[in-house]
Amino acid sequence: MRWFSPSRRCGSNVTGVLACGLLSALLLPLRAVAGETSADYFIHSLPGQPDGPLLKMHAGYGTPLQCHIEVDPSTNGNLFFWHFQNRHIANKQRTVIWLNGGPGCSSMDGALIEVGPYRLKDDAHLKYNPGSWDEFANLLFVDQPVGTGFSYVNSDSYLHDLDEMAAHFVIFLEKFFAMFPEYMHDDIYLSGESYAGQHIPYIAQAILNRNNENPDHIWNIKGLLIGNGWISPLHQYNAYLPYSYKRGLVQGGSEIATRLEAQQSICLSILSKRVAGGNLTIDEPQCEAVLTSILSETSKWTGDVSECVNMYDVRLKDTYPSCGMNWPPDLADVTPYLRRPAVLEALHVNPDKRTGWQECSGPVSGAFKARNSKPAIELLPGLLEKMPILLFSGDQDLICNYMGTEDLIHNMEWNGGKGFETSPGTWAPRQSWTFEGEPAGIYQEARNLTYVLFYNSSHMVPFDYPRRTRDMLDRFIGVDIASIGGTPADSRIDGEKGLETSVGGHPNSTAAEEAERQRLQKATWDAYYKSGEIALVVVAIAAGIWGWCVYRDRRRRGGYIGVLGGSRPRFRGGRVAAREQPDSRGMRLERFRNKHVGRDVEAGDFDESELDDLNAETSRYDGDMERERYSVGGASSDEEDLGRGKANETATRRVER
Ligand SMILES: *[C@@H]1O[C@H](CO)[C@@H](O)[C@H](O)[C@H]1NC(C)=O
Ligand SMILES: *[C@@H]1O[C@H](CO)[C@@H](O)[C@H](O)[C@H]1NC(C)=O
Ligand SMILES: *[C@@H]1O[C@H](CO)[C@@H](O)[C@H](O)[C@H]1NC(C)=O
Ligand SMILES: *[C@@H]1O[C@H](CO)[C@@H](O)[C@H](O)[C@H]1NC(C)=O
Repeated sequence: MRWFSPSRRCGSNVTGVLACGLLSALLLPLRAVAGETSADYFIHSLPGQPDGPLLKMHAGYGTPLQCHIEVDPSTNGNLFFWHFQNRHIANKQRTVIWLNGGPGCSSMDGALIEVGPYRLKDDAHLKYNPGSWDEFANLLFVDQPVGTGFSYVNSDSYLHDLDEMAAHFVIFLEKFFAMFPEYMHDDIYLSGESYAGQHIPYIAQAILNRNNENPDHIWNIKGLLIGNGWISPLHQYNAYLPYSYKRGLVQGGSEIATRLEAQQSICLSILSKRVAGGNLTIDEPQCEAVLTSILSETSKWTGDVSECVNMYDVRLKDTYPSCGMNWPPDLADVTPYLRRPAVLEALHVNPDKRTGWQECSGPVSGAFKARNSKPAIELLPGLLEKMPILLFSGDQDLICNYMGTEDLIHNMEWNGGKGFETSPGTWAPRQSWTFEGEPAGIYQEARNLTYVLFYNSSHMVPFDYPRRTRDMLDRFIGVDIASIGGTPADSRIDGEKGLETSVGGHPNSTAAEEAERQRLQKATWDAYYKSGEIALVVVAIAAGIWGWCVYRDRRRRGGYIGVLGGSRPRFRGGRVAAREQPDSRGMRLERFRNKHVGRDVEAGDFDESELDDLNAETSRYDGDMERERYSVGGASSDEEDLGRGKANETATRRVER
């Protein structure tokens, strides 16, 4: 069953282009798109899904007119999203947005390797992630900036700076909430990893600015979580060598160390000039060279291959010059999975996206130099006045290592203090964190900033420790499990406690709860049956007394009507009011269903040429299967694959964060 028609996309259809232009021009996107199209995003099935009911998901940008989440009509700029509805609502409705870094790396990493509910079992089958972040929060992954992952844009219109990126994101959210108003009033958290340490503060600031301009329609942005974030180049470039010494990658005093120290001094002198000139940038080639030199200087030939340390997890090795770009191993399954025609169709990936999914896009990264953007660290103090921020770090990561993160915190001034000094001479304690009896890491907190160090963890902490990161998330966003169905009771039958009914422990938690509920119900009824006779007698007596009272009352007042009297309408009114919320939700669902019926009818009138179109598109995806994963900056391109076999890779290398 197909749910969208490739022939009705903007760009191939004049009416579509016109309609898109008009819609985009409307100042009230809410009215322009609301209710018209959200059903087109509904995911009806997902190839390789695990047993059990499909999670409730929406994805894509496919609408009949393809006037989807287009952020920049002049450049054909489109952002792709994948949304998972929460499995439980705890004390509040929440939406967590997850972004991967790069710049130019797809947030499908987050969806299928890190915090999303599914992981790949092989390149065709999914399994559940037991630490998925959609347990108590709606979870939204967005491929951004334009051109990243399934998102696309005309090849001459990649973004260059963080303010453009944030502006696009706000437009995206505006349209997303217009399409899905049920999430508009959620508490919103921005989360992500690595270079998203730049994206997230910029987007948060843009949202606050937007809220100031729309005080009647604010988005409840409540906090930020950044994992192994690239936030402060000044402190983080400076941490490469100290971290390498500490981890024994480089021996102090060695010849290699001398050469690396020399490169480090060049980097430092440039950074200090830039600090003085007020033109500090996010990406400084002479400082990037410190990292790439560490990787090349410490690489070793073993047999026919040169091996280097994995810059995302220094416990591991990779082939030179990838040095971690081939990691994590799940990518070997994620890439072919996300190129399957059936998956593209399920996720409503627009055929306008002509190339197969790549984890990281060279052209996006190459264009996004952020030359005119100040590093995000400069936004953090202002943001910390408005919301809590959590920075977490896997301790085995080199590229955005924890020493740099601790250094940036130590040197940052916010909310009337510097670093984790809570009062002169007193430091916020480093509290040890254990998870299920194992030492998991360290928590430190002051004045709205929380720092969490994860032991034995790579750059992708949720990849290594999904359940620990969910625990971290749930603490941070204040999930109150007790509010799900009230206070848990210590219920035993014949002294037996029965199944653990904790929510969220594993993907079957809801099923387990339901099983337990039915078991208890059955036990209760069994008990009733046993004492049935006694109960009958009690009921009979009670009925007799009640009947007598009614009879007396009637005689006194002259009828039932008088008993209920004027209170009746109020009573009814109350009921209606109480039901209003479920009702309006129900109506939305109803509209959904009607849309589906509508689409069914439409699905019947595809003509042959449309199917041919689809085949042509899918073969383009297949043709792209051979494409290598981006590993060298500006090297591979969506349109012209310049990258293969390019010489002198290290010199032009841009690493992905
Ligand atoms: C940074 O700014 C300083 C002072 O404005 C200037 O001297 C220097 O050339 C600038 N550096 C770069 C690399 O543009
Ligand atoms: C911390 O954030 C809250 C909002 O969550 C804000 O009201 C408060 O003022 C902030 N704390 C400080 C010390 O600024
Ligand atoms: C994890 O990290 C802790 C603290 O660094 C260390 O004591 C422990 O040995 C590590 N465990 C493993 C399995 O590596
Ligand atoms: C979840 O439930 C299904 C069906 O009841 C069962 O096959 C599966 O093994 C369960 N998985 C876990 C992790 O408990």
